[in-house]
Amino acid sequence: MSYFTYKESRLSAENIDLADIVKSIGTPFYCYSLSSLQDKYKALSSSYTNDNLLICYSIKANSNQSIIKCFSDLGSGADVVSIGELKRALKANIPNKKIVFSGVGKTTEEINYALEKDILMFNVESLDELKHLSVLAKNQGIKAPTAIRINPNIAAGGNAKISTGKTEDKFGISWEDAIDIYNIADSLEGIEIKGIDIHIGSQINDLDPFSKSFECILDIIKELESRNFNIDIIDIGGGIGIDYKDEGKNLNIDEYFELVQEKLGDLGKTIIIEPGRYLTAESGVLVTEIIYVKKESNKNFVIVDAGMNDFIRPTLYGAEHKILPVIENTRSNSLEPYDIVGPICETGDLFFKNLALDNPKKGDLLALLSVGAYGSVLSSNYNSRPTISEVLVKDHQSELIRDKIEIDEIVKRDKIPDWL
Ligand code: LLP
Repeated sequence: MSYFTYKESRLSAENIDLADIVKSIGTPFYCYSLSSLQDKYKALSSSYTNDNLLICYSIKANSNQSIIKCFSDLGSGADVVSIGELKRALKANIPNKKIVFSGVGKTTEEINYALEKDILMFNVESLDELKHLSVLAKNQGIKAPTAIRINPNIAAGGNAKISTGKTEDKFGISWEDAIDIYNIADSLEGIEIKGIDIHIGSQINDLDPFSKSFECILDIIKELESRNFNIDIIDIGGGIGIDYKDEGKNLNIDEYFELVQEKLGDLGKTIIIEPGRYLTAESGVLVTEIIYVKKESNKNFVIVDAGMNDFIRPTLYGAEHKILPVIENTRSNSLEPYDIVGPICETGDLFFKNLALDNPKKGDLLALLSVGAYGSVLSSNYNSRPTISEVLVKDHQSELIRDKIEIDEIVKRDKIPDWL
């Protein structure tokens, strides 16, 4: 169910009129529904009936601490990829022993900090990283709990930019070298082998690549166990796709978990999943105001006050997000196509091509849907624009969960040296 619905022709988030939020904080802003976030988490956790599942929310999808806290309150762990994400996770009450650290480029500072915080597991992505982790752990007089991320050479995901499981992608260690690297890990003083990890891509709406990747790690686990390696944790990554265009083609969660159970469920191991998009995408909208309407001889444009710096998915991935008027109107009862564009000086600053609207006007409000994942986290200050606000709604309450970062604050950070 969606928590963004029309009530008397006005789009609301739960029981809050989005246009009322505009009156108090202006536009553009991100708005999230707490009930929607909670429902998503509960849908996921209740679809898997075995009790060996640990959900580690992939913080990169939306790292606002209120969003993280929403999931930690429901028992979630976290998948982090930087010291910043780790700090946010801990501040939002994720227990240290429910945190896994992924990513190809963990720095010395990041590893040391995570070792001090005694996290659940490091998902290691290269031999160099493995050796470095061992040295740093040894220096602290401890062993680093480690999984090796396997690259299974399987194509998956919404598009090439978010596919991670092919050998030409930078992620993980080729499945062919898995046994060798576990042997090396075993010989390193600062490493304690804990598990195995895989993540093949994002926005995956087909079970087949998951099935192949589970089979790939199952073979490796069997081989490792025949050599007396201890694998307690199987981290199968994130990647569950959602239905951006209401096409009914998204992954069926029950079928996904049936597959997990069938392939990996009865091995007596903890299964970790790292969902990001599934938990957050559909729980967020971006509200923006029409600045100008421009009608050219062969094209109509609606120019809005949000830009590709605020929300880059359409520009970067050609992603299509539904756009709805915040207040429905039937001004002329005739729809015309408009390109919805932002104010940034790039042709790619385009949210939607040929959106059918009824006589849109300057000052009208629009909402981009399903922007709760990889929305605000990917924003920038390009064109010297501010970082926009984020609002959380629960029933009749709404609260700012991130203040707008005003442009003056950003401008004053530049320094002009005396010698210039
Ligand atoms: N685990 C690892 C190791 C990851 O790299 C990712 C996402 C996830 C979990 C979470 O994947 P999810 O469940 O959200 O699919 N910016 C792109 C998506 C990039 C995904 C990066 N890694 C987008 O907007 O589509």
